[in-house]
Amino acid sequence: MEFFLDTADVDEIREIASWGILDGVTTNPSLIKKSGRDFKTVVAEIAEICNGPISAEVTAMDTDGMLTQARALKAELPENVIIKIPCTPEGLAATKVLTEEGIDTNVTLIFSASQALMAAKAGATYVSPFIGRIDDTGADGMALIAEIMTTWANYDVDTKVLAASIRHPTHVLQCMQLGAHTATMPTKIFKQLITHPLTDKGLDGFMKDWAEVEAAGNA
Ligand code: G3P
Repeated sequence: MEFFLDTADVDEIREIASWGILDGVTTNPSLIKKSGRDFKTVVAEIAEICNGPISAEVTAMDTDGMLTQARALKAELPENVIIKIPCTPEGLAATKVLTEEGIDTNVTLIFSASQALMAAKAGATYVSPFIGRIDDTGADGMALIAEIMTTWANYDVDTKVLAASIRHPTHVLQCMQLGAHTATMPTKIFKQLITHPLTDKGLDGFMKDWAEVEAAGNA
């Protein structure tokens, strides 16, 4: 079970990494835009903060362009950067070549089990089904995770299922119950997974009582 952050905000990544359980980070062109920073600079910084796989996405639409960008990213950025590739025929071909070159990939924008299967056949290290965006259409994103995991169970598939586009903590828990290998989530959801109002209330009560123990000289 791996927990990734889905952000290019280095302050947030640093904060969550300090908890000691951050396994990786995913970025995409929209998250890089939101950061307002230079793509390679921010990905390199993220890769220094977190030792796990850091997804950096190619933006070329053709296979050769994807391969050129992927090789440049691998040459210029830290070793733990992996290549995020869109789930298109051209992306499939690029994934196959990169796999043969020993470069790890994350095939993204997956909305069907057949797409996940095709990416796995191309040797993808990760496939990223987008749960929340499916939910947004009125369909059931979690049903896709279930479908993919059922398919995986029938064969000896090495590709990890990375649940993406996660909208709330229950999404994460349901993915884990279905056996998804990885979930990538915004910082807010990472924090929601560890907080509970009864924990806060209970701790407040313990601290108040302890202050009285100390005041009585019994600490
Ligand atoms: O990183 C890809 C995915 O997690 C995007 O999520 O919230 O833009 O649908 P979202």
